[in-house]
Amino acid sequence: MALADFLRQLDELSRTATVTFAAVQDEASWEAARVEFAGAKQGRLKALQKLLGQVDPAERPAAGKRFNEVKAELDGAMAAAQARLQAPAGGRRAAPRPEFDPTLPGRRMRLGRLHPITQSIEELKEIMGRLGFSVADGPEIEDEWHNFEALNIPLEHPARDPLDNFYLSAAGASHGPLLLRSQTSTVQIRVMEQTAPPVRIISLGRVYRPDTADATHYPMFHQMEGLLVDQQVTMADLKSVLRLFATSYLGSDVHIRFRPSFFPFTEPSVEADFNWNDQWIEFGGAGMVDPHVLRAVGYDPEVVTGFAFGLGVERLCMRRHNITDIRDLYRNDVRFLHLF
Ligand code: DAH
Repeated sequence: MALADFLRQLDELSRTATVTFAAVQDEASWEAARVEFAGAKQGRLKALQKLLGQVDPAERPAAGKRFNEVKAELDGAMAAAQARLQAPAGGRRAAPRPEFDPTLPGRRMRLGRLHPITQSIEELKEIMGRLGFSVADGPEIEDEWHNFEALNIPLEHPARDPLDNFYLSAAGASHGPLLLRSQTSTVQIRVMEQTAPPVRIISLGRVYRPDTADATHYPMFHQMEGLLVDQQVTMADLKSVLRLFATSYLGSDVHIRFRPSFFPFTEPSVEADFNWNDQWIEFGGAGMVDPHVLRAVGYDPEVVTGFAFGLGVERLCMRRHNITDIRDLYRNDVRFLHLF
């Protein structure tokens, strides 16, 4: 028998055995396939083994080598099919493939998004930017000079009570004990110390007070501080800026009113209320920068005047989105955060 003929038959056996064992679904068909291909008496491999004796002796070594390879392939295909059948039910290989239903809706990917407070901050920067205010930054760990002293808040002032502030045990370098800043007014001082007038900045950031958390209080919240210092700045400028701001942010013609108040760093001082949906809502404090403050940073109050304001960002954001509990903003429940 010619070698080529013999090899063709071997290849044919190898191919059909591979296909047959890959398709085997149960023990009975596996056994039937085993008998057909590897049966000791009538099996197809056995038949080829007998034919091997008829191959030309000179070519028999090559024929024998290929025969052994095909035998190994057959053993491998049988073992693999057996392992597949014996894999535990529910196992990856044995589990029946669920039918693919192309009409079902796909699974939507959940995209992250910016926290509502971050969104508000971006929007506030945008609005104030259009009014010509640039953004300034200051540290959240402050010294007493910037948080109190330069802002005209003397040592005996109740705002400096250790129980009303987060003082740190680490000592500051030169400007007294350190604390987590309780107001963004600190940035007014930092900016004026570094810049000659005119100044027109806002600063947005976190402030800290040891308040017990409830629907309207949280020991950390955000403020937007504003400061404008130039020649001949008046209360009328303050009022126009705040009104333009409120109208832009709340999206309708907002009325604004000032109530007399007191802050150590402004004179006169006011509380600013916005009228929105027929309600007067307090949004923060404001006033004309106190001459003491201007002097503390080396400005001449005879030459320049200025106004300042400090608004609560949470309050603005909650108004806008009808959020009634400040704690919802910081629970980090994604179901809530995904509403915005
Ligand atoms: N810093 C004040 C506070 O935390 C708010 C404030 C009032 C800021 C009047 C100002 C201002 O700039 O002029 O309650």
